[in-house]
Amino acid sequence: MHPRLMYRRLAFFSISATIALTLIWSGFPLALAQESNAKKNAPQHQAGAGGDVARGKYIVESVAMCGQCHTPRDSNGNPDRSRWLQGASIPWMPSQPDSNWPLSAPRIGGTPPADDADMVKLLTTGVWTTGDHLRFPMPQFRMERGDAEAVVAYLKSLTPVQ
Ligand code: HEC
Repeated sequence: MHPRLMYRRLAFFSISATIALTLIWSGFPLALAQESNAKKNAPQHQAGAGGDVARGKYIVESVAMCGQCHTPRDSNGNPDRSRWLQGASIPWMPSQPDSNWPLSAPRIGGTPPADDADMVKLLTTGVWTTGDHLRFPMPQFRMERGDAEAVVAYLKSLTPVQ
C-alpha cells in the first residue's frame, strides 16, 4: 500500500474511533438518566407496594392465571377485560356434592381485599386473614416473597371498575 494511502486510512480510523467514543460517552449518561426517569414514572411507585408491577402482571396474567376465576366472562366465555379481576361467580360445580363450595371469586383488582402484608401472606403461605386457608378452587399459592409483592403491586396498579 502506498504510504500516503496508509496514512489517510489511519487518520480515517482514528477520527471514526474518536467520534464513536464521543457518542458512546455522551450517550451513556443520557441512557442512565432515561432509565432512572423511567423508574421514577413506573406505576409501582404510584402503587407504593414496593413490588415490580410488570413482573406482577406477568405472574397474574401468564403464570397464576388469576383472571380465569376472578374476572367475569363475556358472552363468548372469555374473561371480560373491561371488568378485569373485578370478581366473578364460579362457573364450575364440584364433581362430588360439597355444601362448602365457594360461589364466587371476589374482586382483587384495584383495591385488593386486604392490606399488603395480608395479601403477601396469602400468596406465600396460602393462609388468609381468617387464619385459615381459602377454599378450593382458589389455588394454595406458595410464591416467593418478591413474586407475591409484585402481584400485589400489580393488583393495586389497576383501576377498580365501579
Ligand atoms: C381456579 C380459580 C382461581 C384462581 C386461578 C385464583 N383464585 Fe383467588 N379465589 C378463588 C376462589 C373460588 C376464591 C374464594 C375462596 C373462598 O371463598 O374460600 C378466591 C379468593 C381469593 C382471595 C380472597 C378474597 C376475599 O375477599 O376473600 C384473594 C385475595 C385471591 N383469591 C387472590 C388471588 C390471586 C392474586 C390469584 C392469582 C395469583 C388468584 N386468586 C387465583 C379462585 C381462584
